[in-house]
Amino acid sequence: MVTSVGAGREAEDPLAAEISIGQLRLGGRVAVAPMTRTSATEGGCVTSQMLEYYKAFAEGGFPLVITEGTYVDESASQAYAYQPGIATEPQLHAWTPIVGAVHDAGSAIFLQLMHAGALVQHNPNAGGVAPSSLAPKGTQLAMHSGSGPYPEPRTLGTDEITVIIGAFADSARRARQAGFDGVEIHGANGYLVDQFLNPETNHRSDSYAGAVENRIRFGAEVVSAVRRAVGADYPVGIRISQKKINDPDHRWPGGLDDARIIFSALSAAGASYLHVSERDATGSAFETGETLARLARLHGGVPVIANGGLGDPEVARAVIGRGDADLVALGTAALANCDWPARVALGEPLVEFDPGMIDPLATLDNAADWRASRASMGGPL
Ligand SMILES: Cc1cc2nc3c(=O)[nH]c(=O)nc-3n(C[C@H](O)[C@H](O)[C@H](O)COP(=O)(O)O)c2cc1C
Repeated sequence: MVTSVGAGREAEDPLAAEISIGQLRLGGRVAVAPMTRTSATEGGCVTSQMLEYYKAFAEGGFPLVITEGTYVDESASQAYAYQPGIATEPQLHAWTPIVGAVHDAGSAIFLQLMHAGALVQHNPNAGGVAPSSLAPKGTQLAMHSGSGPYPEPRTLGTDEITVIIGAFADSARRARQAGFDGVEIHGANGYLVDQFLNPETNHRSDSYAGAVENRIRFGAEVVSAVRRAVGADYPVGIRISQKKINDPDHRWPGGLDDARIIFSALSAAGASYLHVSERDATGSAFETGETLARLARLHGGVPVIANGGLGDPEVARAVIGRGDADLVALGTAALANCDWPARVALGEPLVEFDPGMIDPLATLDNAADWRASRASMGGPL
């Protein structure tokens, strides 16, 4: 099913060396990072426009594509208008052609499972829910709807936590049914899983709060429920970051100890890979010099994907070459170069990311308009 994109170039380029995540063999080390494009239908179904978007990465030589954050229930998980879901049968079936198109081009595709928690900007079904009723820091992102402060969320009861964990598991099962090669739990950037981990947003007094061992419990329970739902052989990853969309400078208060406890708990819960995201993946996570990716590798014992500022091929190669990470994920560099791996393999120049591609909205329509205006000016696309 998944062929070896880039196989045969291993000797020359570490980015093209094969790697396994669980039983899935990938033909290279470069993934497309998850990126919300708010381009689905109002009902959360992906579209043919999105198929072309995802297919282009596979045709451009990315051996692994990780989808945008996809909501897991028809309750409070949706964060944004026009975000895709995997909560219903129609949403599942809408994803199937995208999975097929990526496979046909020889790449693997993982679905990112997401729950907004308190960071909700548009949800027709429910308001924000969170470990504790604390209004989030910061202001809402520029999106189809919402701007200004985030409203105060409602505190989740223990029974509701169990239901949400079940929604992640059911959605993972649906993802497998749709043909996805794996799932990634969105534990990063300040959304629900991260709200439990962060002592600033988790003021509970039960077993999900207090010491970091308790604050990571929710994320670990999601991983193990998803693992049980999809079986032992299926890739299940989790994305983790210190930064949040509404608090970019946040650092884990327990530093190295937190990293050890968080990564070992997630791996023990059944994660087959850890995806760590930092603004600069080569930077020191704490004062001690190690990158977050290296700490994840040290304590997780499973493959690690590093993300953040790795669009320069030499930097990406160095991250893999130093053994800081097993794969790199590219966000903005992939938006600017949907054929980044192919270009790099041929030594062709890369296009620099222009924020205009995702401004004022991160939609595919916005990117198409940006391309059209660049083409009319004769600039590189
Ligand atoms: C338009 C856009 C949407 C994003 N949506 C998501 C998302 O759905 N899930 C997620 O984990 N990260 C999301 N991110 C963060 C990226 O995955 C990545 O961490 C970030 O762009 C930094 O990587 P880079 O330096 O390679 O761009 C998004 C980033 C962008 C630019």
